[in-house]
Amino acid sequence: LTADSGSFTLEEMKVAYVQFQPVFGRVAENIEKARSMMSGIDADIVVLPELCFTGYAFVSPQEAESYAESAGGGFSLKRMKELSENHNCGIVFGFPEKDGAGVYNSCAFVAPGAKTRIYRKLHLYYFEKDWFRPGDKPLDIFEFRDCKVGMMICFDWIFPETVRTLGLMGADLICHPANLVMPYCQDAMVIRCLENRVFAVTANRTGREKRGDFDFEFTGKSQIVSVNGEIISRGSRDKDETAVADIDFRTSREKAINRRNDLWADRRPEFYRMESDGKDET
Ligand code: ACM
Repeated sequence: LTADSGSFTLEEMKVAYVQFQPVFGRVAENIEKARSMMSGIDADIVVLPELCFTGYAFVSPQEAESYAESAGGGFSLKRMKELSENHNCGIVFGFPEKDGAGVYNSCAFVAPGAKTRIYRKLHLYYFEKDWFRPGDKPLDIFEFRDCKVGMMICFDWIFPETVRTLGLMGADLICHPANLVMPYCQDAMVIRCLENRVFAVTANRTGREKRGDFDFEFTGKSQIVSVNGEIISRGSRDKDETAVADIDFRTSREKAINRRNDLWADRRPEFYRMESDGKDET
């Protein structure tokens, strides 16, 4: 708390992750699991994993579609909205989103009295390309309790442009639902936070999913990382866990890292390129 013209202004915000192992297809059961894990959490924003109520390993696009819901208010969106009202917090969670003929790997932000925000995963991982359409909407940020929030999903981490874009848009905090199978993301997100001076909450799932020809093992280790690349909290590889951290999100708005270097002002975009010249194609 800091004194601000005689009144007290809360400078910090509590952010949390919930890490668990959904059981494929048991949507109501998985929602109940998340609900009970959240019951002990006091936070402003709680982040849950990617596709956390359906499970991950769809065997066909038809199966993904059969579990998909519209952003206008399917089963899990309604339940999460109710939960956000009961807890007076924002909740970010992943779900398969149906829109017309398309199914997207999406996440939603719901909060009491707030407009629902949707992000459609831009960078699909591996067989997700068979199950989902790639995101078709620009990255965006929104404000919640004065904090500027951006969302991205799992494999988006390997494209540094994702966090960079959200950072340049003014994000203080990145909410990052994940179903990670590779072991690199947690360490990579430390650098993403450092190079953009943003906070990030990565909520990853645990466990193994064997369905059809697929056998995925997920890496857990959900984490909360600061603008300095400090790991404020990191979970285990395989246990159900939650963590809450206080973050002073306004520190992300100072992009100077010393008296002579500013992460934004020192960029040289006129010397960067956004496209490959294609010479590596064979
Ligand atoms: C992933 O993007 N779920 C690996």
